[in-house]
Amino acid sequence: MMLHYYHKDSMKLFRRKNPGVQQVIEVEKDEVSQALAEVVSEVEKKEKKLGWKERRKEKKKEKKEKLKIRRKGIEVEPYDPEKHGELAIAPEVEGYKEVERYWLEKPYAFASILFNEDENDYLYQVNEPTLNPFEMEVRNEIEEKLRDVLILEEVNPFVDKEEQLIEAVNQMIKDFRIKIDPVTYYKIIYYMVRDFIHYGKLTPLMKDPLIEDISCNGYGIPVYVFHRNYMNVSTNIVFEEEELNSYVISLAQKSGKHISIAEPMVDASLPDGSRIQMTLGKEVTSHGSTFTIRKFRDEPITPIHLIKWGTFSSEEMAYLWICIENSKSLIFAGGTASGKTTSMNAISLFIPKKAKIVSIEDTRELMLPHENWIPAVTRDAFQGEIGKIDMYDLLRAALRQRPEYILVGEVRGKEALTLFQAMATGHTTYSTLHADSVSGVIHRLENPPINVPRPMIEALDIISIQAQTYTGGKRVRRNIELTEIVDLDPHTKMLRTSTVFAWDSVKDEHKMVGNSKALEDIKTHRGWTTKELEFEMDRRRKILEFLAEKDIMDYKRVSGVVHAYQNKPDKVLKQLGIE
Ligand SMILES: Nc1ncnc2c1ncn2[C@@H]1O[C@H](COP(=O)(O)OP(=O)(O)OP(=O)(O)O)[C@@H](O)[C@H]1O
Ligand SMILES: [Mg+2]
Repeated sequence: MMLHYYHKDSMKLFRRKNPGVQQVIEVEKDEVSQALAEVVSEVEKKEKKLGWKERRKEKKKEKKEKLKIRRKGIEVEPYDPEKHGELAIAPEVEGYKEVERYWLEKPYAFASILFNEDENDYLYQVNEPTLNPFEMEVRNEIEEKLRDVLILEEVNPFVDKEEQLIEAVNQMIKDFRIKIDPVTYYKIIYYMVRDFIHYGKLTPLMKDPLIEDISCNGYGIPVYVFHRNYMNVSTNIVFEEEELNSYVISLAQKSGKHISIAEPMVDASLPDGSRIQMTLGKEVTSHGSTFTIRKFRDEPITPIHLIKWGTFSSEEMAYLWICIENSKSLIFAGGTASGKTTSMNAISLFIPKKAKIVSIEDTRELMLPHENWIPAVTRDAFQGEIGKIDMYDLLRAALRQRPEYILVGEVRGKEALTLFQAMATGHTTYSTLHADSVSGVIHRLENPPINVPRPMIEALDIISIQAQTYTGGKRVRRNIELTEIVDLDPHTKMLRTSTVFAWDSVKDEHKMVGNSKALEDIKTHRGWTTKELEFEMDRRRKILEFLAEKDIMDYKRVSGVVHAYQNKPDKVLKQLGIE
């Protein structure tokens, strides 16, 4: 049964046009007004920029607040860079010149990007507080004692972990009457928080929003990162063999998983939502333990980000918006790290607010604003095959939960067939697949181990091909094409496809290049004229452009507008001042 969500006022018209619809859910007027009021106030706020004096005042206040917590319990004067000197300094590296420097955690850690002109090589240096021998001794001492304290004492779940840790350190300094100056104190606190609460040595990298991936390929070799501006760069972080083993074990523990020589390979999600793949020891990777982290972005990417970055055009997004709202199924295909999952998550904001959604993933990556959503994650076996729950199991279970929208993280195996069966029986599905082209997608779907029969592939509506590519010498992510599956040619038995949008790499533009069967279907289904369809596309494009222009990219606000539009289109347009 399909559910439709409409506001009361438009219900009469809706019932007349859709006599077969069994259930109509009414949406509260207040929700619409609230979402809109938030957007309007955000626009106003952005337009009313703070003067430099106010900004400085705000900053000072923030800093003071932070230091207040740090000093709780003992007397330490606030850190003042002019009086106490810098906490971290960047050592020089022969042959390299610094080209950029930025804070990772002010005033403790910063990144400096070094460049060697002769070798055309970049380095990413993490610079943290340097410790003299005395400070090192204090750090070791406190660390050891802290371990005992933390094991013995219960953690209060209602108090911030960092605050509790700092209090414990302060208590120790008091009890043992350690005489330390403010600089040493702040450095010690930095390392304690870094190691006990965050990710130890990797913390600065985890804090850098410009880093997409972090990979450690073994001991004794630098950790590599994929930096948004400098691509693959090596860092000054290196693990020793034993240190790396215990680090990987602790990462597994942090993710609630178990890694051992018997089961040396684990996929997991870190507490902050980052995806991690790790191996332990030399069983499967000859150069010792390894890990690769796909970092989670604090702020989910919305269709507005993708428009602003040029990955999709506003017209393409308007097209996807209409298609998604009208239950068209999609697959995002592309190479590794081409942005498939990100795009899939972003366009999921177009799913009607109260629709029932089930998502299925190996590691949790998706984040939706919808409340009627069951996020499911596969589970590894305990021993042999016992207790294993794979995508196929989850998908079969999902179908019994009567979802309207099914999101599958990535299809690789037999679950794909079930997914296509779900599509054929009226569910709308979104998924990602590793393939570089439309023919590549079809080839992968039809052949082992996926094996979807060709007539079933017809149930899929749209394929988006995404790639990391170059434009004007810059590395970018682009949606290369949006192609629809039209039908199966009755004579040749070939699948007919039609490319609706294509990216022009020379001009870096997305163009509508073909007819859309999906839009044609929607038009018929909704009883729209061609003019009405064009009008609908146009209005949505304008809303998306308005949000992009005003820099409203925040996930809650964007979904607020989208959902409000689904209920009260005219009101949204009026409030946003769009014709
Ligand atoms: N359109 C985009 N523009 C810029 N950066 C992007 C874009 N899409 C994704 N990213 C960034 O690229 C990285 C990889 O994205 P994502 O995880 O979506 O890729 P993927 O294709 O699903 O990768 P995988 O094949 O590993 O599953 C992330 O750090 C993400 O923030
Ligand atoms: Mg992915």
